[in-house]
Amino acid sequence: MSDHDAPAPFIRPRRNRRSQAIRDMVAETHFDLAQLIMPLFIIPGEGLRKEIPSMPGIYQRSIDESAREVAKCLELGLTSYLLFGVPTYKDAEGSAAWQDDGIIQLALQRFTKDFPEAHFIADLCFCEYTDHGHCGVIVNDGVDNDQTILNLGRQAISLAQAGVHTVAPSGMMDGMVAAIRGALDEADFSEVAILSYAVKYASALYGPFREAVDCTPSFGDRRGYQMDPRNRSEAILEAGLDMDEGADMVMVKPAGMYLDIISDLKCNFPLPVVAYQVSGEYSMIKAASENGWLDGQQLMVESLTALFRAGADAVITYFARELAEYRRQ
Ligand code: PBG
Ligand code: ZN
Repeated sequence: MSDHDAPAPFIRPRRNRRSQAIRDMVAETHFDLAQLIMPLFIIPGEGLRKEIPSMPGIYQRSIDESAREVAKCLELGLTSYLLFGVPTYKDAEGSAAWQDDGIIQLALQRFTKDFPEAHFIADLCFCEYTDHGHCGVIVNDGVDNDQTILNLGRQAISLAQAGVHTVAPSGMMDGMVAAIRGALDEADFSEVAILSYAVKYASALYGPFREAVDCTPSFGDRRGYQMDPRNRSEAILEAGLDMDEGADMVMVKPAGMYLDIISDLKCNFPLPVVAYQVSGEYSMIKAASENGWLDGQQLMVESLTALFRAGADAVITYFARELAEYRRQ
């Protein structure tokens, strides 16, 4: 080393953060409104719009009011919708889930006619439709896997007849994707896609949702079928099984506390990875924001950005409409 050598360069990463223009130029994460999926809670009746107390800004709506909401959201640039039904009739099996005049079936008949450009996803599960609130048929105090997946096939066919584009089984039953794929194909609905809730954890973050659709289990909990939050490798197992059974997309749920899992799936599978920013994640941000403790708008953007940075290809979020409006400003 001679005395004339230049000093080692002093690396200043701050140069790339100097102005908004530079920051925007080098930003590594971007997302489009087409990648956001807006959940809708649909109730029987007409002209109804009821705010969910623990989810400010989110409503249960009758079919006509939901149609108005979809029209508004489409205008804002949102193209995908996830439908949940809140039926009046409940029984032990959840049979209202596969009636041709069921709440989601009626909604789909109308929406697919009125909004041919939109993509409609229907949640496939029974907890909203069972009188005990569990995600399937109860046998000996537990959800019977194999009877439940037969019913999932029935529900999928009935929704396909009503025009659904994608079904999203959320009950975490073993073999559910294969059963649904088989049932759909046999009924000539091979074009209907399956977005599997492949990796769904038994989380405390679903509380507000259970209030929104009235599906709190009347006994026990969902830990016998949803995943243990302590497990990471098991997510690979679950997603792999669903891919082999014919899933078109796999979901991780909840989202923000499970970024490692989103990243794992993105790195290990060629399928699109969808993250579900669940009700509790939304409620926490809203509550802190209403208290003046955190900036809700900034957190909305930051929380969604983090999911895309981790590797999500699309995100289900109660913020979809608010984010679309924010981008309009
Ligand atoms: C039911 C279902 C749940 C959610 C979506 N489908 C709740 C649960 O498993 O208890 C949660 C969604 C949310 O919290 O936003 N199968
Ligand atoms: Zn369920």
